[in-house]
Amino acid sequence: MAQIFPKWTNQIPSKLLIGLIVTVNVVILGMWYYFTPAFTDVGYAPEQPVPFSHQIHVGKLGLDCQYCHTSVTESKQANVPPTQTCMNCHGQIKTDSEKLAPIRESWETGAAVEWVRVHNLPDYAYFNHAAHVNVGVGCESCHGRIDKMEVVYQAERLSMNWCLECHREPEKFLRPVEEITTMGYQVENQLLIGAELVKKNNVSPPQYCQGCHY
Ligand code: HEC
Ligand code: HEC
Ligand code: HEC
Ligand code: HEC
Ligand code: HEC
Repeated sequence: MAQIFPKWTNQIPSKLLIGLIVTVNVVILGMWYYFTPAFTDVGYAPEQPVPFSHQIHVGKLGLDCQYCHTSVTESKQANVPPTQTCMNCHGQIKTDSEKLAPIRESWETGAAVEWVRVHNLPDYAYFNHAAHVNVGVGCESCHGRIDKMEVVYQAERLSMNWCLECHREPEKFLRPVEEITTMGYQVENQLLIGAELVKKNNVSPPQYCQGCHY
């Protein structure tokens, strides 16, 4: 039989098909990866009403986290500081800074500054700051190097798997309670020190569902 099409065209359909399958797979994989909680929120950094910099106040001026986040060791929530805390210094320092205008306005009117939340777990998952920091889980383990952040962003996944990675092996992360706010904490024998702290404080983080969901 005479060939109507040249020989090379025989390959077209299978090539096209393979090309299509590969493309579809790449798109699905990409979407799956992108929308998995492991990936979605990391890096989230909403714009704030005042360009407050942790890099200046912690990294450069050396303020301790608890100077502002006073409730972390006592309660479930780590509070964001009231305007009063800023005015301790900014009543005298940088008093005509444009950037600080909303702080001065809040001070005069008594209306709180409307900071935008960066980290946010869904309501069905229970989390408590005090329960963590009081047994030596450092801020850094969950929030990263805040002292280097010009703008706070979500550094870790905060997914269920992420929580469990530590709950299964807390000795990899625990530090002496005096060090919870230290940034850049590192020791050579972490596993040894960690294991001692686990034993000393009887640490056993929940892995059963009701530990975090009730
Ligand atoms: C001078 C006061 C001050 C100090 C000191 C300070 N913070 Fe903050 N922090 C703030 C303010 C104000 C905000 C809210 C604005 C923002 O998100 O940048 C905030 C926000 C945060 C957030 C994001 C909260 C959210 O909305 O999810 C984290 C996490 C945080 N701080 C951790 C730390 C850690 C860790 C340290 C110590 C290494 C620290 N902060 C030291 C004032 C402070
Ligand atoms: C312990 C004193 C202290 C406290 C408390 C403090 N600050 Fe500051 N802040 C400073 C100093 C000092 C500077 C200037 C640092 C520099 O320029 O290197 C500064 C700079 C700033 C700037 C940049 C101003 C500009 O025009 O460049 C902003 C914005 C700011 N602070 C916001 C805040 C807010 C909001 C709070 C409360 C959550 C706060 N600060 C609490 C000492 C403080
Ligand atoms: C074991 C992990 C973990 C540790 C340790 C931790 N945080 Fe958090 N932090 C979180 C999570 C998760 C959220 C979001 C909580 C929510 O949405 O209910 C959060 C939220 C916050 C917030 C926003 C207000 C709030 O309570 O929701 C601030 C401020 C904060 N953390 C500061 C700190 C500081 C300062 C430290 C250290 C003294 C610290 N955190 C230690 C995991 C941690
Ligand atoms: C870096 C380590 C680490 C990470 C990350 C971590 N935890 Fe924990 N968690 C602990 C340790 C340590 C304890 C304390 C166990 C004890 O006291 O026996 C604990 C205890 C708990 C408890 C029991 C105490 C209480 O508050 O009732 C809950 C619930 C909990 N964690 C939830 C979470 C959730 C939700 C996340 C993730 C958003 C998380 N944890 C992330 C280390 C961690
Ligand atoms: C250490 C705390 C912790 C434990 C233990 C835990 N979870 Fe979760 N779980 C979470 C957190 C935090 C989220 C929210 C994750 C997010 O926002 O991405 C979550 C989310 C979920 C979701 C929503 C879907 C998803 O994956 O986001 C389901 C369903 C769930 N958990 C079921 C379970 C079951 C079943 C168990 C027991 C086998 C369990 N969890 C144990 C912390 C925990």
